[in-house]
Amino acid sequence: MNKELRQAIIAGNWKMNKTRPEARALIEELKPIAAEATCGVVICVPFTNLETAVELTKGTNIKVGAENVHFEEKGAFTGEISAAMLTEIGVEYVIIGHSERRQYFGETDETVNKRTKAALKAGLKPIVCVGELLWERECNITEEVIARQIKLDLYDVSAEDVKKTVIAYEPVWAIGTGKTASAAQAQEVCAFIRATLAKLYSKEVADAVTIQYGGSMNPGNAAELVAQPDVDGGLIGGASLKAADFGVLLKAASEG
Ligand code: 13P
Repeated sequence: MNKELRQAIIAGNWKMNKTRPEARALIEELKPIAAEATCGVVICVPFTNLETAVELTKGTNIKVGAENVHFEEKGAFTGEISAAMLTEIGVEYVIIGHSERRQYFGETDETVNKRTKAALKAGLKPIVCVGELLWERECNITEEVIARQIKLDLYDVSAEDVKKTVIAYEPVWAIGTGKTASAAQAQEVCAFIRATLAKLYSKEVADAVTIQYGGSMNPGNAAELVAQPDVDGGLIGGASLKAADFGVLLKAASEG
């Protein structure tokens, strides 16, 4: 199974949720719960909550991530945030290429690749999201879609850097819909991602990469999903907004 060769990580993706007082309350509630976890614990929060999250999680096992990063170091890019702006305040992870960015904000595999390289160069750990649309799954081209995303998103990323990269398999049809991929479907695609990485790099590199599942993961289905041999934790939307629910997922991944 080789699961011991990599870290299972449960990462929350808060998306556009939580004002600062709400963020403070959730993090304070989460701290004692997260302290029990042996898996990696990450919370990816809106830009406005990053400093609060970094400050409140100092000395705990909770790492902080952003939800996006720009690929240029600085300049005329209104509304964007650079990798250095994130690292200087203590951010360690960043989600890149989430399907909501691809769908609503014109993110492409080319910009995902640029953002991934910029993040790695600055010392951030990218969580690169890939996943097929429902239509693509129905047309039986899931593997083609995923292989293309993996190849393009990681183009020119070194073996050493890819080991620092987390891949999140998030079937677009399962995000926020309450429709979860079955454990078998999640395993099948996560194993396919690992096989693709083995072809592009080596088996040793592929075995070292954390590959998460994301899409309506919740306290009821998490244990079965994270027990799959190629599923190394999850990227969690809705269930990351409630400390108790997130805690159940942390426990599942710590045991899985
Ligand atoms: P949900 O867990 O709300 O389906 O969201 C998944 C997701 O998009 C995490 O990035």
